[in-house]
Amino acid sequence: MGLAATVATAVWVMLPAYVPNNAAVLAGGGRPIDGGATLGGKRVLGDGKTWRGTAVGVLAGVALAAVLNAIEPTASDALGVALPTFPPAAMVALPAGAMLGDILASFLKRRTGRERGAAFPLLDQLDFVVVALALAAIAAPGWFGATFTLDVVVAILVLTPLLHVVTNGIAYLLGLKNEPY
Ligand code: CTP
Ligand code: MG
Repeated sequence: MGLAATVATAVWVMLPAYVPNNAAVLAGGGRPIDGGATLGGKRVLGDGKTWRGTAVGVLAGVALAAVLNAIEPTASDALGVALPTFPPAAMVALPAGAMLGDILASFLKRRTGRERGAAFPLLDQLDFVVVALALAAIAAPGWFGATFTLDVVVAILVLTPLLHVVTNGIAYLLGLKNEPY
């Protein structure tokens, strides 16, 4: 695969893992997942991880995967790249893994004394990718091996922090997010 095709494949295949975080920002609020519980005097997760944000985030990712499956022939034709489609297990594993990664990162942030909204460089940008890929590998191993070739994985690891910084910067400028990360 050439560089352009690798980048197109990497972005396409990760879209169902990228969108949940942004959807959660728009939908967040209501009951926190940890119900206010603390561990060692600190919140387990904090008010930034809510049931509503998580549910809407996962649903948005699944819906996007369904849309991508529907437009794949058109998109592949237009780009001249054989883009992958998403089997049902991957449609769920990618967004659910993204939300779980973000939640695990909050757990780590609280344990290391960081307040809600505090930055944790690299963890903030890659938490959701690592867990989304791990869940997809478990849920759809055959598809994962065929789709996530080494060049695609490298492209994902390079592009994701950039995309994350840009989209969160935009969300911050629009007043949707309290911090630009
Ligand atoms: N959000 C949510 N549920 C999630 C993830 C995010 O409701 N599972 C919403 C919350 O309103 C949150 C906002 O999206 O404040 C921004 O998400 P994020 O930056 O991940 O959370 P933070 O508020 O920064 O909290 P933390 O420090 O725990 O990451
Ligand atoms: Mg944050």
